[in-house]
Amino acid sequence: MNVQSDVNIGLVGHVDHGKTTLTKALSGVWTDTHSEETKRGISIRLGYADIEFRKCPNCDEPECYTTSKTCENCGSETELVRKVSFVDAPGHETLMATMLSGAAIMDGAVLVIAANEECPQPQTKEHLMALDVIGVKDVIVVQNKIDIVSHERAIESYEEIKDFVKGTCAEDAPIIPVSAQQGANIDILIEAMLKKIKAPERSFEKSALMHVARSFDINKPGSGADKIKGGVIGGTLVQGTLKIGDSIEIRPGISNNNEWINLTSEIIGLEANGEDVDEVGPGGLIGVATKLDPSLTKADSLSGSVAGEVGTLPDVLFELEMEDHLLDRVVGTKEERDVAPIKLKEPLMINCGTTTTIGVVTATKKNTVKVNLKLPVCASPGDRIALSRRVGARWRLIGYGIIV
Ligand code: GTP
Repeated sequence: MNVQSDVNIGLVGHVDHGKTTLTKALSGVWTDTHSEETKRGISIRLGYADIEFRKCPNCDEPECYTTSKTCENCGSETELVRKVSFVDAPGHETLMATMLSGAAIMDGAVLVIAANEECPQPQTKEHLMALDVIGVKDVIVVQNKIDIVSHERAIESYEEIKDFVKGTCAEDAPIIPVSAQQGANIDILIEAMLKKIKAPERSFEKSALMHVARSFDINKPGSGADKIKGGVIGGTLVQGTLKIGDSIEIRPGISNNNEWINLTSEIIGLEANGEDVDEVGPGGLIGVATKLDPSLTKADSLSGSVAGEVGTLPDVLFELEMEDHLLDRVVGTKEERDVAPIKLKEPLMINCGTTTTIGVVTATKKNTVKVNLKLPVCASPGDRIALSRRVGARWRLIGYGIIV
């Protein structure tokens, strides 16, 4: 079986509803690793974990499903069924931009809803709307923290969830009661993810196009000059393949006095599912080691760029024209209000692939809007972008645009 995962599954939902705990229950990896995240107890950046779904050959469904190499029920050795990559999005309302750039690389999603709070909470609604807007269709609902609610509350919470998902992309989603903390019903959740979240059709033949979601300087402070390793980018290939030794271009790249410079380098290492590989294809998350100066890749400085074969990437756009599709209501706040039409000169937050930028509206026509971008994007006609507007002190999702 291929080393690389075949899908990216997003974990989304309101702050503190248990996304990071669920990732830990599934993978053993705690995705809150930045010191600020540990201190504040909330996720700030996108977290990643690669997980193997396994099956015990001797147990019945759903008890046979696990992520462990040994069956918890009968002790048999389990068999690998599928490798998946998890993207753990932050739930705090100030971090919608990060959630939206994560949603751009999700093939399916698990919406985590805590049973001990009334549903929907503001970001439960905003995240589900974001999945709808970005076009993530395969959704599973986890009704979490089932260990701390009464039987009656569990049923009431189920009814609230059923009502809430009516008319959305999660209308027919399975709703699975889980305790992420106690590891209860994880087997049923794995079965649902295996059956419901399908790998999309991907093209291996087209030229490589990678959405960069993170970038790193992997050197430890004080490393000797002869030991310095080149910059690393992480993300997902939407099409094509990358091999060690390939030359690679990254666009829009870096800004120097407002001039954007695309970067070119050579691939010197590839990682998928924690293993070194020679070649990667579209699907789960990958790490690409380059010969770039690591100061260019540190602290996510290249997240939002795209990478691929030199000379094949989409144009770098400083201006966008799009067909706009607005939601009826602004969600994500306690008091919802109608979405007013887009106005001339208003600033919009634009999420295009993994890029977050601001666009100031320079023209509005019936159904189309033109914006000037503060940071350029690398995109093609037909690409879908999420649109947010400043409401009070925060950016709120108001709809999507299709680049014309
Ligand atoms: P953000 O990423 O910051 O949005 O939060 P999160 O959704 O990742 O929540 P997190 O996993 O950090 O959990 C928040 C709190 O809820 C922690 O104190 C967890 O221990 C607790 N928690 C998570 N899942 C469960 C559960 O199933 N049962 C109980 N009792 N507590 C849980």
